Formats: sequence, C-alpha cells, structure tokens
Amino acid sequence: MANTEDNLFKNVISHAKEYGFIFPSSEIYDGLSAVYDYGQNGAELKNNIKEYWWKFMTLLHDNIVGIDAAIFMHPTTWKASGHVDAFNDPMIDNKDSKKRYRADQLIEGVIEKLEEKIEKEIEKAAKRFENFDRAMFVSTNARVVEYQKKIDEINDRLKTAMANNDMVAMKQLVDDLEIADPISGTKNWTDVRQFNLMFSTEMGSVADDANKIYLRPETAQGIFVNFLNVQKTGRMKIPFGIAQIGKAFRNEIVARQFIFRMREFEQMEMQFFVKPGEEMKWYEFWKAKRLKWHQALGLGNDNYRYHDHLNLAHYANAACDIQFNFPMGFRELEGIHSRTDFDLKSHEKYSGKKLQYFDSEDNQNYIPYVVETSVGLDRMFLSVLASSYKEEKLEDGSERVVLKIPAPLAPNKVAILPLMKKDGLPEKAHEIMNLLKFDFRCFYEEKDAIGKRYRRQDAIGTPYCITIDHQTLQDNTVTIRNRDTMKQDRVAIDAVKAIISESVSMAELLKTI
Ligand code: GAP
Repeated sequence: MANTEDNLFKNVISHAKEYGFIFPSSEIYDGLSAVYDYGQNGAELKNNIKEYWWKFMTLLHDNIVGIDAAIFMHPTTWKASGHVDAFNDPMIDNKDSKKRYRADQLIEGVIEKLEEKIEKEIEKAAKRFENFDRAMFVSTNARVVEYQKKIDEINDRLKTAMANNDMVAMKQLVDDLEIADPISGTKNWTDVRQFNLMFSTEMGSVADDANKIYLRPETAQGIFVNFLNVQKTGRMKIPFGIAQIGKAFRNEIVARQFIFRMREFEQMEMQFFVKPGEEMKWYEFWKAKRLKWHQALGLGNDNYRYHDHLNLAHYANAACDIQFNFPMGFRELEGIHSRTDFDLKSHEKYSGKKLQYFDSEDNQNYIPYVVETSVGLDRMFLSVLASSYKEEKLEDGSERVVLKIPAPLAPNKVAILPLMKKDGLPEKAHEIMNLLKFDFRCFYEEKDAIGKRYRRQDAIGTPYCITIDHQTLQDNTVTIRNRDTMKQDRVAIDAVKAIISESVSMAELLKTI
C-alpha cells in the first residue's frame, strides 16, 4: 500500500471509531483479534445496506424469497459440504519474525507484482505511440511476454499444488520464487501445513466427539438443507432463488485490514436454483445484475472490476469475484459461483433424503444446479465507508471531513438543529421532528455553535441539516443545508419532507438498478 493510501486507510479507521461506526470488540480488555463491534451509526449504516440488498433480492425478483436459518447446523452438513475435509488454508511461518502467512497469498503476491510490471510497460508504451494497440503490444513485447510466461507458470504450479493438496510442492514454490518475509526480510520458512478454518464447539453437556458442532463458515448451507422445504411450501418453480443474511465464522490465519477479513462476519447470499445445463446462462445473468447493484450506489464505476477465478473451489465449475478498489487496492467484495449440483447431491448422499425437483413442464425429476451470489456485508460496509470518506479544503481555507455516504444508506437522514436553546426554538424544532420522524431517521441536537454542529453531521454523513431560527417562528420556514454542496436554502416547513424524500428514498435507488 502506498504511503498516502496507508494514511487514508488509517484515517478512515480512526474516524469510524471516533464517530460511533466501528469499535474493536471488547476494547476494555484490549480487543479481540479480527473481531469488531458496530456502534450506533455503524449499526444503522449496516442495516441500511442489508435493506438495500434484501429489497433488491426479494422485492425486485418475484422468484426469490428470503429465509433466516440457524447458525448451528447438524455436523454432517459440513462433512457433506466438503468443509470438514477441504476448507483449509495452507499456512507457513517465518522462523525469524514468528509471523504466520497464507502460503498461497505469498505466492499470489508475486503474481500481482508481475502483473503490475506488465501494466507499467503498457502505460509507458501507450504514452509513446499514438495508435496504441494494447492486445498487439501484450502479445509481441518481449518483456511483457516473459512476465506473462512467468505468471502462467506460477499459476499452473499453484493450481496443481492446491488441487493435489501437495504442501511440499507449495513450499518448493515459495523457495523457488525466493519469497522473503516482508517483516524480517529473511527466507527462513517452516514447512507449509493445512489449517481448517472452521470454529468448533460442543453442544449439550457431554463433551465427546458426537457432540462436536461447528459455527457455520458460510450461510449457504442453511439454504441448501432447506431447499425442498422452501420449494414445496412456497410452491416455487425453477428457476427460483433463496436469499439469506446472517453471521458466518472463519478462523482466518491472517486476519488483518480492519473489517476486510474478520473471524466473525456477515454474509448476504442468494442461491439461484436452475435447470441443469442452464447454469452458465444464469451465471452470466447474475454476474451482470450484481455489478449493476453495486454501481447504482454511485461510488464510481471504475472502482469495480471482475476477477475470474483460476483456482476453482471444490464445488464450482465457474467463479468470479466482483472486486472493489479498497484503500489497500482492488480486492474481492462479492463472489459469483456456479456451484453445479455439488451441494444438493452431496446432502442427498449423506442424509439419505431425496432433494430433487419435479419439473412438470419436462415431466422429470432432477437435482437443480445452483448459481450463488455471495457478498460480505462488512466488506460492503468498508467499501461504502472508505469511498465516502473525504477530507476537503474549503474556499475560506478551513477543512472538513465529510462522509458522502449514498443518501439512502446514511445512518441519519436529517439533523434538526434549533439555532439557540431558547426563545421557543427547541419547542418548534421538536414539532418539526415529530412531523418527520415517521419517515426519516432524525437526529436532534441543540448544543454548540451551528457551524460545529454542521461539521459533526458532515462527519457522520447526514445528508440534510434543518436549522430552526427566529424567522421560523414568524413564517414557518427553515433553512435546509445539503451535506455535499453545503448550500443552504430557505424553504417552507411543508416542503421539507418532499425535498428529503427525493434523495434518501431506498425505493428510488432500487428503481435505478
Ligand atoms: N458461500 C460462498 C462463500 O462463502 P466466499 O468467497 O468464501 O464464498 C463470500 O465468501 C464473501 O464473503 C466474500 O466475497 C467476502 O465478501 C465475504 N467474506 C469471506 N470471508 C470473509 C472474512 N473473513 N471477513 C469478512 N468477509 C468475508
């Protein structure tokens, strides 16, 4: 991460704490690694993101319904899903720094550096030649061809080692690439070992193996095991989807970068059940739809890109990420996976219960194929928070920090601010708040100078501030201040609701997708 980006990220993190968005978990005991609590403003923002996703899924698609399955599931679920045997990450320790890493991520870091080198060569050449042909350049420039060859070679070896669970080959790759620990600078590594990411605990009072259960590492399995319950009780016809928002838990080896990689986090997942053979059509459909959902927030279309998976998970026949340009660079925000019939087939086998759909049009039974969309709620939160955070220099030379959160997601929609704490202004302000509070989350404040109060609202991303002054008592008008433009207009109290509604409406946002 470049220094300025590093500083920006640090500022976002301290801002999130200072203004009640995110606190380290159990902070009075010095926190718990990679676990965070959402404060009063964070919880509101998070709920609004959930609403945006839930309504998109269940209101805009009449063939998608939502469920809320338990976190604890029968332990055989995780044997069937493959998580007991295959939900591992390869870990490696540096003997000098005593730091632990994911070996695959160290190797991918080398690939990223080579990709950056290619991009630099392209940039240089694009500046030199007027009618620059990128594809031609990439396939003919000797240096770029050499870098690409190296990338392909590393990818091949990584993919084979992962597929064969071959930790010796993985270590050999780390050695061959001469990867050094960024902290100690040495290449003094341990062997690579597999590490299962699931948390386990015991259910009931007898602590033996039979009672061992897991905290779910993904919400998806709660959907798979309920597939027939929902299909039958909801009389759903294929293609249809089941959506769910809920907690997931992973004992991540390297849990850094604030809420990007946590040990307890939330997912918003949707499994779309389709006819076998039609999965690629629906995979492309959901890839495009989900990108549009993200872009509708207006955080900048260039901040998103697709990243196709080369190393497919054990259940997928196609997969890609929607990456977001986080402060530390482009990283995975959402996964779109074509999961085939792997999960339902496996649950059929392990449970001994049929999980098939009767297609009345084709007059046949089959196990549906599944296309999954899976977005981390906390990562969504980070994408919104980090890209909304702006440090601005104003015309009068002063500075402000403002969160330009998309208005429908903002924790508070409007601040109600009596200019003074006397002369009947607070009473009038409460009267206005009582008019608005059924439609918008309002924040009331009467302490401090008005300029200071505006700054505080900017810092938590409130789209509008309404100021009640002496003129209000005479002609029932107020000033309404826009967070982004800082422009203030005098308007009739009766007009306020319509002005705010226009930009903070979730329904209007959903209509743009
Ligand atoms: N059901 C498929 C599944 O879980 P995944 O790619 O492992 O796929 C989906 O996870 C999404 O969940 C990711 O794109 C990311 O947004 C989020 N996610 C995964 N691990 C996370 C973690 N440790 N902390 C925060 N979010 C995480």
